[in-house]
Amino acid sequence: MIPSVIAPDFSGIPKLNELASRDFLAGLPKAELHLHLDGALSPALMFKLAQRNQVELPYKSIAEIEAAYQFTNLQSFLDVYYRGASVLNTEQDFYDLTRDYFAKCKADNVQHTELSFDPQTHTERGIAFATVISGILRAMADAKKDWGISAKLVMDFLRHLSAESAMKTLEESLPWKDKIIAVGLDSSELGHPPSKFTEVFARARTEGYRVVAHAGEEGPPSYIWEAIELLNVERIDHGVRCDEDAKLMDYLRETQIPLTVCPLSNVRLCVFDTMAEHNLFTLLDAGLRVMINSDDPTYFGGYLNDNYFALADAFPVTREQALLLAHHSFTSSFISDDEKLKFIGQLKNYANNFQ
Ligand code: HPA
Ligand code: ZN
Repeated sequence: MIPSVIAPDFSGIPKLNELASRDFLAGLPKAELHLHLDGALSPALMFKLAQRNQVELPYKSIAEIEAAYQFTNLQSFLDVYYRGASVLNTEQDFYDLTRDYFAKCKADNVQHTELSFDPQTHTERGIAFATVISGILRAMADAKKDWGISAKLVMDFLRHLSAESAMKTLEESLPWKDKIIAVGLDSSELGHPPSKFTEVFARARTEGYRVVAHAGEEGPPSYIWEAIELLNVERIDHGVRCDEDAKLMDYLRETQIPLTVCPLSNVRLCVFDTMAEHNLFTLLDAGLRVMINSDDPTYFGGYLNDNYFALADAFPVTREQALLLAHHSFTSSFISDDEKLKFIGQLKNYANNFQ
């Protein structure tokens, strides 16, 4: 079941062809659909938690942490990312991490977010599944109460680990299944195709989970086809290598399967050499349902608004294009049509009133 398409209708909105200013982009109501919580761990919080939990890090200062964030590909990032996640141990740590992220959502006018967590990163180190998810859920409830931010939780399996480990994690998650909207697949893509997890995803679907997967970030278009045909995904995370396969481009346009694109991530992990070479607008112009996300914002140089700004620095982004990207972010989410229409109403209202 692919998220419902609500056709964009921006008729009557003024200045659609004007370039979108930073102020216009910053205030735009938006959703985020591709965000790894462990990738929202700031160097400051990492340092604080290392001290609080007496975890030894190979860095002596926040500046040294930041200096280590030079990546050549996905794996070089993941090595640093999993080491950083080792400071997270208690329910309060997961709360603090999640709370920090929601504060950024508030600052960036993110009205709805579908954040993912990787239980295996922590259960493999002996941290209980319940500890991880309880801290996250408490912060989600507080963000709703304090800031009115809507959120859903996605559970990602680490694809470099075995299918048996993913199945065990799926079974561990079942007591919380009404609190988890979807399962996904992340970590080292090359050599770990979606087909490795066909049975796990079939079971997840029978348990009522929605399904997404990272595919076509570093992996070839065939991995995107596998995610669609074998895992039955409703959304692809990244997917930017789809442009190497004309049939796949046609299929994605016809089905409107969304791609959760992450521009700063793609440049920092050398999927594209520069932002000017990013294919987001090629995909958008081809009629694909793409939107902007931050992936791992503290590692890749920015949260959601920073991703919009980086694109606007490299491309002439019009108000209409920005509205379409934000529109896709809401319609590609796993909320109800009524909720989607409410957010789209706010989006149009914003554009109508922006000077
Ligand atoms: N790709 C794969 N796995 C990940 C990523 C990513 O961009 N971020 C965190 N885990
Ligand atoms: Zn990701």
